[in-house]
Amino acid sequence: MEASLELVCADITILTSNRTPQGGDLRSEHGLSILVELEWCDESTGTLLFDTGASGQVLEHNLRARGILVQDIDWVVLSHCHGDHTGGLEWLLSQPGGQFLVITHPEITRPVYKTEPDFHFVGVESPSLRGLGPGRWIQTRSPIQLVPGVWVSGEIPRVMEFERPRPQMVCLRDGVMQTDGEPDDLAVALDMGNGGGVVLAGCSHAGPINTLAAASELVPGGLAALLGGLHLYDAEAAVLEDTGRSLKNLLGEGVISGHCTGVRGEGMLDATFGERHLTFYTGDVWRFRRGAPDWVEALAVSPR
Ligand SMILES: [Fe+2]
Ligand SMILES: [Fe+2]
Repeated sequence: MEASLELVCADITILTSNRTPQGGDLRSEHGLSILVELEWCDESTGTLLFDTGASGQVLEHNLRARGILVQDIDWVVLSHCHGDHTGGLEWLLSQPGGQFLVITHPEITRPVYKTEPDFHFVGVESPSLRGLGPGRWIQTRSPIQLVPGVWVSGEIPRVMEFERPRPQMVCLRDGVMQTDGEPDDLAVALDMGNGGGVVLAGCSHAGPINTLAAASELVPGGLAALLGGLHLYDAEAAVLEDTGRSLKNLLGEGVISGHCTGVRGEGMLDATFGERHLTFYTGDVWRFRRGAPDWVEALAVSPR
């Protein structure tokens, strides 16, 4: 593919999420999987799966319901190791004919645990991932451009003072249990032209503002929108306020939120963005087009 090719359209389907519409043909679960169908200016196309949801059963059902074959998928990007984003991976890797590249942070398979409400493993459980050779699995700490206009952030620098690591997430490193810091959290940035950048985040464990700051470096023309989980359900009021102010500065348009954003987070986003804050349900399809006057079109919103 030519380096000068421009990305002209991205159809973003919420393949799996926590929020169930009334009706619709897809299943929901506590998890996230986002299907991104891309088109370039020469009419070439590509399909990226961002996270795999919590289970192979739901992923299989929802891909089939949307007419997507495993063979259609070109890239699988894992936002981070947590099971609600990687639980469908083992099923995906077991399917015959899959040729997709998997892109992750190199520490995605570290032993990570949550101490609340009881001590339990929250890492990736996919023996097949460890068995993938370098031709199928790209592990990167640095940003990489997968194809023209499509960036994977790599490790996101922690620069904002108010976005701190969560003490209840711990990792066994060199025989010592220590605060994890969730270093593997990464985002996808789509360069849709001047002011039209779109950022996909899984849970924004790196912090939504750190995430957007990193994406801004990759998409210098400016960011329009953030879509994904913002993990603000337990955020303190001061953090919500700082987050809202910074989001407004970094995004030309708005936010499409769901998964772990939480009621408190979505209330802040409503107050900050008004009608330019949308919430997503399983089955929603959002279209972003290069140079289009509307920031996003809702293509096939599930019955609510
Ligand atoms: Fe999550
Ligand atoms: Fe998570």
